[in-house]
Parts: sequence; C-alpha cells; structure tokens
Amino acid sequence: MEDKILNTELLINKLLEEEEEFHHVNNPAADIKPVIKKYLGVPNHAEQLGNKIYFTDGDAKVEVVVVTDEIIRVRLAPHGVFLDEFSYAVPKLVHKDAAFILLENESEYIVSSRVVNCHIRKKDFFISFSDKKNHITSADAVPMHWEENVKFGGYYVFCTKTCATEESFFGLGDKPTELNLRGKRLKNWNTDAYSFAWNQDPLYRSIPFYISLNDNIAHGIFFDNTFKAQFDFGAEDKTKTSFWADGGELQYYYIHGPHMMDVVKSYHILTGTHPMPPLWALGYHQCRWSYYPEAKVRKITTGFRENKIPCDGIYLDIDYMDGYRCFTWNRKYFPDPKKMISELAAEGFKTVVIIDPGIRVDDNYSVFKEGKANRYFCRRSDDYFMEGHVWPGRCQFPDFTNPEVRTWWGGLFDELVEMGVAGVWNDMNEPAVFGAGTFPDDVRHQYDGFRGSHRKAHNVYGMQMVRATYEGLRTIMKNKRPFTITRAGYSGVQRYSSVWTGDNVASWEHLQLGNIQCQRLSVSGIPFCGTDIGGFSGEPDGELFTRWIQMGTFSPFMRAHSAGDTKEREPWSFGEPYTAINRKFIELRYRLIPYLYSTFWEHHRYGFPILRPIVMQEQDVLLNHFRQDEFTYGDKILICPVMQPGQTSRKVYLPKGKWYNFWTNEMADGGQETMVATPLETIPIFIKAGSVIPEYPVMQYIGEKEIEEVKLNIYYSDYEVNSFLFEDYGETFAYEQDIYLEKKFVVNGDNKKLTIQQSMEGLYTPRYEGYHFNLLGLPFKPGKIVADGKEITSFTTGKDKVTEFKFSKNFKHIEIYK
Ligand code: GLC
Repeated sequence: MEDKILNTELLINKLLEEEEEFHHVNNPAADIKPVIKKYLGVPNHAEQLGNKIYFTDGDAKVEVVVVTDEIIRVRLAPHGVFLDEFSYAVPKLVHKDAAFILLENESEYIVSSRVVNCHIRKKDFFISFSDKKNHITSADAVPMHWEENVKFGGYYVFCTKTCATEESFFGLGDKPTELNLRGKRLKNWNTDAYSFAWNQDPLYRSIPFYISLNDNIAHGIFFDNTFKAQFDFGAEDKTKTSFWADGGELQYYYIHGPHMMDVVKSYHILTGTHPMPPLWALGYHQCRWSYYPEAKVRKITTGFRENKIPCDGIYLDIDYMDGYRCFTWNRKYFPDPKKMISELAAEGFKTVVIIDPGIRVDDNYSVFKEGKANRYFCRRSDDYFMEGHVWPGRCQFPDFTNPEVRTWWGGLFDELVEMGVAGVWNDMNEPAVFGAGTFPDDVRHQYDGFRGSHRKAHNVYGMQMVRATYEGLRTIMKNKRPFTITRAGYSGVQRYSSVWTGDNVASWEHLQLGNIQCQRLSVSGIPFCGTDIGGFSGEPDGELFTRWIQMGTFSPFMRAHSAGDTKEREPWSFGEPYTAINRKFIELRYRLIPYLYSTFWEHHRYGFPILRPIVMQEQDVLLNHFRQDEFTYGDKILICPVMQPGQTSRKVYLPKGKWYNFWTNEMADGGQETMVATPLETIPIFIKAGSVIPEYPVMQYIGEKEIEEVKLNIYYSDYEVNSFLFEDYGETFAYEQDIYLEKKFVVNGDNKKLTIQQSMEGLYTPRYEGYHFNLLGLPFKPGKIVADGKEITSFTTGKDKVTEFKFSKNFKHIEIYK
C-alpha cells in the first residue's frame, strides 16, 4: 500500500515536472533518445467509483464520466495517475442528473447514458460512441496514444478517430479558411497576426472544439487542453481525424447531436454563455488608431450627429495614454477626460478605451511599482522577470492566471470607470511581444494554484486578462453591465467578453474571410463577434466599405476600425452615394435592435449562436456543408452579403420553407437557389415566413428616444412558427433576478385567417403601452380583426397590402379574418 502511495507521488511529481523543471529546455538527451509512441493495449479491468468509471491497462488508465445525457468525458492517464481537475474553460462540471449504467459483454464494456453509449472494446481499447439506435457516430481509428516528452517531462498526447468519406467539420474558432474544415490541419497557439492571410494559421484565439457532421448526424469534440494543440481533419489521411497536444492531459468531451444546434447548446453547458450585454453595445461603434486629441474625437462624434448616422460607441486607442502606460492619460491631448467623457455621454456616446497587458518598466509609474512590489509580473524559470518590448517600450506582464493579480488588475479600472468609461478593449493579449512574438516557453504562471509554464498558460493568458478586466468592471460598476472586447481567447472567453477578428485587411478577400470567421466563431461558442469593418490595414474604396457596412449590420458586434496610416474611415468619408447607403444600413441595425437583443437572450439563456451558417438550417443537404457565404441572423433573417466588386446580382439559396424578400415583401419558396439583384443599395435579406420581427424606431443612439410602441412585423405563414421578444432594463443585472420579460409569439394561418398568440414569462414591465402591428404577406384582404375577444375597427390595408393596427402589448390572442 505504502509502495503504491509512494509510486503515485512520484508519478504526480513526474507529471508536474513538466511544469516545474524548465532548466532542461536544452536537454541534449532529447535529441538523441528515440521517442517511442505508446498505445493503449487491452482494458483488463473496469471499475466504477462514484460517477466515474475507470478502465485500466496495466499502467495506463482511462476515466469515463457521463456529464449529461449527451456529454461524455474521456481522460487518459498514461501512468495511471490523473492530475486534479481544473479547467479555465469548464469552471464547474455540471452533472445534470446524468444517469448511466456500466454494461459488459464478450467484446466490450459499454457506459450507457440515456442518449449515448460509450463503447470500450476489449481486444484493443478502441473507444467509440453510438446513439440508442446503435448507430456509431464516432470511433477511434487507433487507440489513444502518447509520447514521453523527454525535453519537458509530461507527454505529447494523441487521439485519432475515423473520418468518413462525406464527414464535414465546423468550429475551431476564428480559423481564416473555408467554413468546412475537412482536409485541413490546424494549430491552436494564440498569435498576433497583423494583416493575416487566407489560410494563415494560427491566429489570435484557440478554441479546441469542433463539430463533425456525417450522414445528417452531428457530434462535437471538445479537447480541453491549453497546450499547443493540433487538429487534422482528414488532411494527412482522408480516413482519419486526429487531435493532439504538446503536453497536458488527453481529455476530451464527446458531445452528442444529432443536430449541430444540439452540439453547440451542449458545448455551452460546459463552457458557459455570454452574459447579456448592455443594450448600447449592440449599436454601431466607431474606432480608429487613434482618435486624438480631444478635438478630433469631438469632430468625429459631431460628424455622426450632423450626418444623422446612429452611433453608440466611440473608441480611444493607445494614444490616449501617457507614453502608452495603461491606466494613465496623455493630458496634452486629453486635458480633462472626465469632462470630455461626460459631454460625449450627454450626446449619447459611450467611451471605450484600450488596455494592453504590457506594463512599462518605470519606477515612477504606480502600476509598475505596485506590480513589482507585489510580484505580480510573470517570471522566467530562473526567477528573472519576463521582459519584452511592446508599445510603451520595455515592459513586464501581469500573470493573469494568478487570482490575486486578476483582482488587482480589476481594481485598476476604478478611476477610468469613475471618469465615465463604459467599456474596455483588451488588446495584444495573445500575449504579443515585438520581435519575439510571445513569451518564451519557460515563463512561470501561477495558473490558479496549478502552477505551470507558458506552454500551458499561453493560450489562456488573454482570456484571463479579459476575465480580470470584466470581473473588475463588474465589481466597480455594481449592477451595471460592463462592455469588454478582447483579441485573444480560449474556450469559455464568452463568459467575459466580445471579440473581434484582429488586424484584417481592406480587401474583398478579407470581407469574405470575415464572413466565414464570424460564422465560425458563432458556432464555436463566441456569439458576440465582429470584424474591423472596412479592413484594418490598407485602403478600401467606397464600394468595399459600404459592402462591409452592409455585412457588419448583421455581425453581432458592429465596429469600424482602421490603422493610423490609412485615410479617414467614417461612414461618411466616401461621399455619396455611399454615405446614404451606410446610413440606411446602420439605421436598419438600430431598427432591428430588439430582434438582436432577443436573439442574444436566446443565446444567453439557451445556448443558441446568434449567427448560424446555412448548414445549421438544413444539415441534411450536403451542398449546404460547402455554402459558406450565407448565414442567418438569429433563426429568422437570412443574410446573403455581397462580396465581389461591381456585383449586380447573386445566387441565393433559400432553405426549405417560405421566405419573404425583406425589401419587396415578395414571398419565395425555399429549398432552391434563386438569382437576386444586388445593386449597391441592398444586399439580399430574407425573412422566414411566420416570423414576428420586433422593431424600434430609428434612433441616433440607444436610449435617445423613449420607446412609445414596438412595431411587430408579422410575416404570414400557413404553418406554425414561434418567435421571441426579450425585454428588460438593458443595462443592469436585474435579469439574473428574473426581472425580464420573455415573450413568445406563435403565428399560424390559412387562406381565411391568421392567428397570433402571445405568452410571457418574467417580472419586467416595459414602459410603452402598445404594439404597432404590421402584417405582411397576407393572402387575403382582412375584413375583421378580433383581439382578446374585442373587435378592432381601426385598421388599414395599404396599396402595398400591408395591414396595420395597434393593440395592447399584453394581448394574448389575435385573429385576423378574411
Ligand atoms: C493592434 C490591434 C489594433 C490596434 C493597434 C493599436 O494592432 O489589433 O486593433 O488599433 O494594436 O493599439
């Protein structure tokens, strides 16, 4: 027994060695010793301990846990010892009433939940998963395997599964490549990638989660490993899908579908959803590197109001600081920031400021002094500080994986919040270092008590920075929702922040890439995302900028941004006809705010993505696995951006069902392709029949006008369709105490009658009294309207066949008769 304990300790030390002993980086033995891959052999023992089931093969051990009916976690310990459970991505493993049984027959062990079976084959330790119809959805192609890492200690860990002929792959964050990842090999290692190119890999974020779709059945794999990791989707061998990492544990979650949407929703059960954003953050944001001095900022904000182009967010990039020192102000450019911010706020602008992780080495700078005195900055393995050059020159970097450092960092926002800053932009947090790229491998991290090197902490560094920012702001702002945006991230970053896709380029190719990246981020658990509209580097012409604004109108996060060495880049910078079109689309963004906000709620509460690739509408249509330029905004509005110069029409695929052309209200049958004209003034937008699309009046900024009524655009359908409207204060966390209203509308019709029903949940009472109903596409001219038993006599039907009337926001049942 004692021997066993001793052995276990030795093994743990050995595993930890990987984190502790970095002096061996140049161990010459590493280059001489042949590395041997070891594979799981034969499971000769199965044992259930609580909700965990262990299968042993001599030394190696595999742990299987049924997390929910649909999620099963698999872990491998090559020498039988598992490290303590800890994950930045999965803060709490919620075992949602996950009943299971362990079965055994001649050839396999089966761990069986109510929905999934996990099979462990006796002859060779192959692991596979099947549904209750015994349909195998995922299967090992070779047993899980590992290699000792003689340089660092620990193991390289590998998992290889079979890849079917028509299997498609989605997810994995912001990879700038085709939406379907089949045939690709990709790496996760957060990287500052200025002016990145199509197929460049890796970029800023690491999201080790993918969705496989084969034969109309989807499943997901979440490989929760923060080390440098790789994924191969049939690239090296088209019959195999592999994922592996340079260290850490082989630990993955199998997530059952059968629909892609089920997989994404379950992934959110593990990693959490985005909190509700402040309503203003769904408006338009204007950014540039940099707007300074103050007079320039005011010129821009005045420009918005004079041009009558709505805008809520105005950004200050690094030049607002004193010598790029975070949490300071350049008083020459901004003599009285508090006054400026409050005057901007009076005009409806929320000020967002940038913050970088590099803290200037300067003994006269309080942030540096505090960090130094408290040992908050990262150190190398020899205990010397990690130093590198970034914007301020020589810098040291807080160890955001240390909870004490996060609390300190969060507190530093006190003064900025007091000055009225409404949001914080977290940049350069891959972390980026000029010249070196990033930190050396041997930098030490506290890792919330699970100490480790930069090899382990690199991919979570940015996420922990924005977490520190978000949590700090949340404490300081009390019940007000903070707004944060980050460049780097790891799975779960959505609990703390929105993201943008980094330093893109003003090119048509990047418009296409941005479209794919936002869709991909959305299905990878990052709903609040957007691109630098117009392209960060380079010069867009008016047409490209306008086409980007049109697409960006339907990005969950909508911000124009540009590098300092480019020409002015505001929505009016290109003159007419561009200004008017940009205005029209930004106005449309504001009209649809209640729809976007409701979709956000569906994400927050239920785990739905906001943007949905067309394949999520109809995963059974194989062609849709490759159609990558159309998406739905929520599930009701189909967007087909225009992404070629001079394009006057484009092919649009309408998924099955009926769709209304948003511009003409004409109805078209889905399940087919159709050509749609694309003059510069429009992009193809279609609304699903049966939808209720709530609309606000155009405002120059959120809250400019009291909402007197909400317009409900109701698109006739002859089959039943549900829609949602979410309402609350828009800026507090009262929704966490059920102070919100979730309204559900059900629309159904035939050629004589249309029925609209409403039900509600929650405790919020909106201030407006009534709805303005806008009925579109009715196949008959209404003769009689009855609302909650009362006849409505004042309704009109215009030449455009749109019927309008008003009624109480509390209605339950309305019938419109021929
Ligand atoms: C980085 C950011 C960019 C920002 C610039 C200056 O390149 O990605 O958005 O404007 O730094 O802070």
